[in-house]
Amino acid sequence: MPYERRMLIREKAMTELRAITEENFIDAFNLHLAPGQERFVSHPIRSLAQAYVYREQCQPFGIFAEGRMVGYVMVVYDYDIPEYDIWHMMIDQSMQGRGYGGEALDQVLAYIRTKPFGDSSRVALTCHKDNAAARKLYESRGFAATGAEFGDEVELAMTVE
Ligand SMILES: CC(C)(COP(=O)(O)OP(=O)(O)OC[C@H]1O[C@@H](n2cnc3c(N)ncnc32)[C@H](O)[C@@H]1OP(=O)(O)O)[C@@H](O)C(=O)NCCC(=O)NCCS
Repeated sequence: MPYERRMLIREKAMTELRAITEENFIDAFNLHLAPGQERFVSHPIRSLAQAYVYREQCQPFGIFAEGRMVGYVMVVYDYDIPEYDIWHMMIDQSMQGRGYGGEALDQVLAYIRTKPFGDSSRVALTCHKDNAAARKLYESRGFAATGAEFGDEVELAMTVE
């Protein structure tokens, strides 16, 4: 369905973050990106492999709405900087454009404000330079480009209270 039409039928979203557990990890495996979006974000399968490596400093979440997992996101704490990083946020292709990504980002920021791993107030992420939709979403929540670039990815950051 075209993005414009999805926005017309968008209802008030009710989104919830739930930690990835043995109860729900297969649902994360079954999330799908739209054609062409693979270059913007790692699939949750790859992200969960990274979550194992960084297991002392990260929390992967399923994004739930309408009684099922509709997306995925991971929060990582970088002790070296220190800062919170948001990795691999995605909404299943069939559920994009309904407000779930925006709500999930609000909840990720609320989670980070609880300082679950360390005291930093800096939140950072990278976004592909061609990913205008995601960039617009992040900027609407207060993220701004830092000027740092990593290949095709630009760094965005904000400070939370
Ligand atoms: C980016 C993504 C997570 C947004 O989730 P979503 O549920 O589709 O987004 P929402 O419906 O909550 O929309 C939030 C905002 O994003 C923007 N947006 C989302 N999809 C868009 C599109 N196709 N075109 C233009 N803007 C778009 C809009 O600014 C929207 O704000 P609005 O409510 O003022 O219109 C989702 O599209 C996705 O999974 N994309 C592929 C993976 C990806 O790029 N992840 C980000 C990696 S940095």
